[in-house]
Amino acid sequence: MDIRRLAEDSPTGWFEQLYAEARQGRAEVPWDVPAASINLREFPLPYGEKRSALVVGCGPGRDAEHIAGLDYATTAFDISSTAIDLARSRHPDSPVDYRVADLLNPPPEWSGAFDLVLESNNVQALPAGLRAPAIAAIAGFVAPGGTLLVLAAAATDTPGEGPPWPLTRAEIDAFAAGGLVQESVEEIPAPQTRLVRRWRAVYRGRP
Ligand SMILES: C[S@@+](CC[C@H](N)C(=O)[O-])C[C@H]1O[C@@H](n2cnc3c(N)ncnc32)[C@H](O)[C@@H]1O
Repeated sequence: MDIRRLAEDSPTGWFEQLYAEARQGRAEVPWDVPAASINLREFPLPYGEKRSALVVGCGPGRDAEHIAGLDYATTAFDISSTAIDLARSRHPDSPVDYRVADLLNPPPEWSGAFDLVLESNNVQALPAGLRAPAIAAIAGFVAPGGTLLVLAAAATDTPGEGPPWPLTRAEIDAFAAGGLVQESVEEIPAPQTRLVRRWRAVYRGRP
């Protein structure tokens, strides 16, 4: 399966095709690994104490399970119904509410509704024309006083061929454009991956 060609032909539809083919043993999903993202695991998130969390583009659920394990009442969504089936079947006793939903047309009741929002590795998988609306939609999920955590590959001076297409500093700053306050931005070396550097950025919703 040629991921690059699939992504060109169908910028959001290719994910379902990839998950479905992988389920039949005919492809591999490169990001489908058991452990939660390292820059999530190493981030000192406070315990949720049942506050709400939303995990964007959750795939088979690795990061959602981590956040639910920190006692957040967690909703996690993906555009791919196969990814959501996998998440539910791999975590049968999970408290996570796994949903099929489209980031670019989300349920209206999610607007400003979550105390914690995690965006990890999703915007970087979208082509140029979809990134600004995706960033605005993600920022729009954060409740007043809530937190947005963004994990992403960081663009370098030598762009490679995507997907993924690493995020520029301007794109990282754009998460704050809709009224969130950018609290911190780290650029973390990632020598174990071909993308070399990663962003970890934190934003707060105004009270
Ligand atoms: C590169 S994967 C990252 C998955 C996961 N966040 C992780 O780090 O393991 C991108 C994910 O975003 C999902 N996705 C892509 N477009 C989406 C959209 N418009 N709405 C919701 N999910 C989407 C894909 O199905 C895929 O699971």
